[in-house]
Amino acid sequence: MKIVIANWKMNLLSQEAAAFCQAFKAGYTPKAGCEAGIAPPATLLHQVSALLAGSSVQVYAQNAYFEPKGAFTGEISMSQVKDAGCHGVILGHSERRHIFGETDENLVKKLKSAWECELMPVLCIGETLTQRDAGFTLDVLHKQLEVLKVTGPGPLVLAYEPVWAIGTGRVAEPVQIEEVHAFIHDELWHLWHDRGLDIPIQYGGSVTPENFDGILAVPFVSGGLVGGASLDPAKFQKLIGQAQATV
Ligand code: PGA
Repeated sequence: MKIVIANWKMNLLSQEAAAFCQAFKAGYTPKAGCEAGIAPPATLLHQVSALLAGSSVQVYAQNAYFEPKGAFTGEISMSQVKDAGCHGVILGHSERRHIFGETDENLVKKLKSAWECELMPVLCIGETLTQRDAGFTLDVLHKQLEVLKVTGPGPLVLAYEPVWAIGTGRVAEPVQIEEVHAFIHDELWHLWHDRGLDIPIQYGGSVTPENFDGILAVPFVSGGLVGGASLDPAKFQKLIGQAQATV
């Protein structure tokens, strides 16, 4: 199974989102074995869910809190995300970890809360450049994956996003992606046994139509989590077409 998700981050206003969905839907033909998703900012979740209804494109939130309700000013719950029409939620994105102090402890709670609300979590992991240069890439990923030991198995998409490749235009080399994706595949087997082998592992970090074919050819790469290039409906369509061509 392949899965390509547009991570819009903190971009687009409602009119722009409407124009995007209209342009995108006009040229999108679904194909079995390849899922497409869009993760708009929270303010656009309802609108984008309504615009994409019936298109088979799934909507994801970019984050949500683990408590079901209450005095948590500025947060939104998993059930609110579900109520807005979402299929899933991105968790542990490096911008959440590094700018907003997301912790593995919270991610355990968020994964459980997402499952309780029948949301598909997309768990992001990745090393910084300092960690890679110091030779700790696999140790960092092993540590980040330990949340899955605590939670036990459940529905999941995993996204490997080297922090140094996000928004920098500097994509990881296929050989670097290959080493990490094979490692994650093995780790998932150790953590969840057969259940772990079904988890799609996306690559993310400066993915564009120019480099995506090479990335998709790497073993254990099951698609992409795409930021910058996903803000252009034509480019996003192209990326989905590239993933569809591999199934
Ligand atoms: P990018 O972002 O494609 O702009 O590098 C990817 C991501 O952060 O999910």
